[in-house]
Amino acid sequence: MRLLLLGGSWFLGRAVVDAALAAGWEVTTFRRGRTGHQGGVRLVQGDRTEPADLARLATHGPWDAIVDTMSYVPRESLAMARILETVADRYVLVSTVSVYEGWPVEPLTEHSPTLKCPPDADADYGVDADPGPSRYGFGKAGCECAVTSAFGPARVAILRPGVILGPHEYVGRLPWWLRRFERGGTVIGPGDPARRIQPVDVRDVAKFALRCALGLQGVYNVVGLDEEATMGEFLAACAEVTGSAAEVEWVPDEHLIKSGVKHWTEIPLWRPFAGTWDISASAAERAGLTTRPLAETVHDTWEWLQNAEPMAHERAAELGITPERESTILEAWRAQRP
Ligand SMILES: NC(=O)c1ccc[n+]([C@@H]2O[C@H](COP(=O)([O-])OP(=O)(O)OC[C@H]3O[C@@H](n4cnc5c(N)ncnc54)[C@H](OP(=O)(O)O)[C@@H]3O)[C@@H](O)[C@H]2O)c1
Repeated sequence: MRLLLLGGSWFLGRAVVDAALAAGWEVTTFRRGRTGHQGGVRLVQGDRTEPADLARLATHGPWDAIVDTMSYVPRESLAMARILETVADRYVLVSTVSVYEGWPVEPLTEHSPTLKCPPDADADYGVDADPGPSRYGFGKAGCECAVTSAFGPARVAILRPGVILGPHEYVGRLPWWLRRFERGGTVIGPGDPARRIQPVDVRDVAKFALRCALGLQGVYNVVGLDEEATMGEFLAACAEVTGSAAEVEWVPDEHLIKSGVKHWTEIPLWRPFAGTWDISASAAERAGLTTRPLAETVHDTWEWLQNAEPMAHERAAELGITPERESTILEAWRAQRP
């Protein structure tokens, strides 16, 4: 199997490369070459915004499938897909649940309405609202149209993952929680410990992307299938792997909202909406998606984090609540709780 990976060295792309090499596939990656190089892979160095680089990339084909982990701007995706259409059979695009109009508030299936964005839109198309929609979601919706228009729906699989966690995560969600437990003290447990959550392990998304590359077609939401995964279990796993003596004090959604805590960013993975963790992945499950227990993801990420080089990442987000603010919120909660 000859695979072209658009991207490949940060997080999900890296996991796709690992999985493809383990399966004995021949792997080419296309990227700028700024972030290291994996052995066993043919690297075509170039920038997705440069037409000449894309034309040069096409001369390295043909491929049985493309997996694209790096598309954000429809106009760029359209140019890439048009050039690559003649040298690759299938296109697997990694999109996101942010393409849904109802994200992150309403329960979602693949039939839920999506944001409308033209296939040749620029990076600034759309709006950023809180909660949702976002320019990121509009852009990804446009990338879906761009790739589908160039390859035709029968040759395209679109993955819409929810939150992806695991080793090499650069957004910093699970790393923040692990470092928070490492620090100790009293940790805010956000909302309801019994709230089910659906993060998916990066290695499970990668494995499913390869399954799509082998011939699946259509749209697939991709979330963790572990029905036992709750916010309470997640924090317990963080405490256990870090060997932390930290105590968790659960603070209801209403108090966090009243205190002005920014959901998703100040307390990663906390959102008070019923729909955030109510995403159906039944289409992917029927197509063969399997996912590991969340505790395993937490364990392996901690193992990676202990040896990881601290690295400023160009897409890292500012995440996490400050210790002072955490204490203030806890004190106010203790003063008024029943
Ligand atoms: N994290 C989540 O929770 C989540 C949830 C839903 C969906 N997603 C989606 O999952 C995907 C995550 O992908 P990832 O970032 O982990 O993929 P990745 O393929 O591991 O990393 C991105 C790659 O793009 C390359 N790159 C960056 N800018 C480039 C440019 N201008 N031209 C050419 N190459 C360029 C980088 O390499 P160089 O630095 O060498 O150029 C890097 O290898 C994204 O599509 C994201 O939207 C993520």
